[in-house]
Parts: sequence; structure tokens; C-alpha cells
Amino acid sequence: MRTLQPEKLPRHLAIIMDGNGRWAKERMLRRIVGHRKGVETVRTVVEESSRLGIRYLTLFAFSSENWLRPKTEVRALMSLLKRYIKMEISRMMQNNIRFNIIGNRDDLPPDVNREVDAAIARTAGNSGMTLTLALSYGGRQEIIRAAGLLAADLAAGRVAQAAVDEALFDGYLFTAGMPEPDFLIRTSGEMRISNFLLWQLAYAELYFTEVNWPDFSKAELHKALCDFQARERRFGRTSDQLHKGN
Ligand code: FPP
Repeated sequence: MRTLQPEKLPRHLAIIMDGNGRWAKERMLRRIVGHRKGVETVRTVVEESSRLGIRYLTLFAFSSENWLRPKTEVRALMSLLKRYIKMEISRMMQNNIRFNIIGNRDDLPPDVNREVDAAIARTAGNSGMTLTLALSYGGRQEIIRAAGLLAADLAAGRVAQAAVDEALFDGYLFTAGMPEPDFLIRTSGEMRISNFLLWQLAYAELYFTEVNWPDFSKAELHKALCDFQARERRFGRTSDQLHKGN
């Protein structure tokens, strides 16, 4: 594995975990087998990210659009999620990981919500990496929800029109208080954002790999992070400005 520079790691890594179905199909297996293997990758990536010192890891586990999948697959995914959260609490405690979710919680089955609440409460005092699962999450829906909350505050006079800026709007998003992702990985060769963190990814470096999520190993994670470390993040400035510090 290549050597990583600890001071140049992304502060917030976001991942679109894709390709579980294709991984299974290539092996003539059922899609759910791909998702189960995908959960093993989640474990590996969570623990390695935490070990490396990444502060925030956000995983796209279930989109607002994923409810349109066949009922059996949706049920199987919900059951995998519930089991993952329940089983992982003790490992999260050992690794000092704080658990969090973003998305429309009202859509989730009550038993999943119960495990989510338990994991959030148990890990609330942890000070290491924050692991966020995006569940029933859609970026446009999140922005519309934020706009609605802000409109209500404006109408009630709790916020003045002149105070509305990017930082204020950010506080109405599910990710309020978190730094925005500086690196996004998407597996399985698709080169789309797919309604993930639309506002927050404005300046993120993007990385696409052909590897399907179940095959995304620790070595693949290191490869992606090395790629990130070789990039120059200019935020609209010129390269000269960055190097001269003006
Ligand atoms: C994409 O594969 C993956 C998902 C829709 C869900 C990701 C879920 C997991 C990795 C398992 C549960 C998650 C956690 C956090 C325990 P796909 O089905 O879209 O693959 P395809 O595009 O090849 O069909």
C-alpha cells in the first residue's frame, strides 16, 4: 500500500457505495448477497477511515429513490441496516466513533428508527470519527426542506432577510455543524452525483473507480486517498496564488 500523509487526509470523506447488484450478478448470485458483502466493505472502510484519523465519514446507504426498488429488496436492505447498526454499536464504542444519520427519518420503519436512536444515544459522547449514514436521503429534498424551515423563520421574524447567507442556510441542512466533504468517492464506474449532498459537494474533489463496492478493499481506499493527496485544491484561486500564499 502507498504511504499516506496524515496531515493531508480529507477532513470529511463522502462515499456513494455502488455496484452491489452488479457484483452479485457477475457471480450469478442474488442481489441481496451483493448487499451482504457490501456490509463487510462498510465495516472495513469505517474502521480504516477511523484508524487513519478521518474526522467525518458519510456513506450513502439508501436514497429517497431507492424506495422504488422491489419490495423484497427494500425489506432486505432495511433489515441489513438494522442489523448492522445493532451489531456495530460495540465496535463503534471501541473505536470512539460517533454515529449519526441524515435523511428523511419519517420514511424509515419504526424498528430501524429505534436502532438508529439507540446508536446515536450510546455513541453521543464519543470524540473520534463521526460516521453518518444517509438513509432515505435526497439532496434536492434536503434543500427544499431547508428552504421551508428558513421561510418559516423569516415569516415569524426569527431571522432577518439581511442575515441570510451561505453559512446561515447551511444551518438548516441535515448536515448542520459538519464541515462539507472535501472528497467524494463513487464505486462501480458510474460518474454521477445521484442527488447526494448537492449543496455540500460544491468544492469536493471527485474520485470514480470501476471497482464494485463489495470489492472496495482497504488497498482501494488508500489508492483513492493517495489520489486526493496529489491534487491541488484551489477554490477558484490560481496555482501561483496558492504557492505564494497571497
Ligand atoms: C448500491 O448497489 C448500493 C445500495 C443501494 C445500498 C448500499 C447498501 C449497502 C452497502 C448495505 C447496507 C449498508 C450499510 C451501511 C450497512 P446497487 O444495488 O445499486 O448496485 P447495482 O447498481 O450494481 O445494481
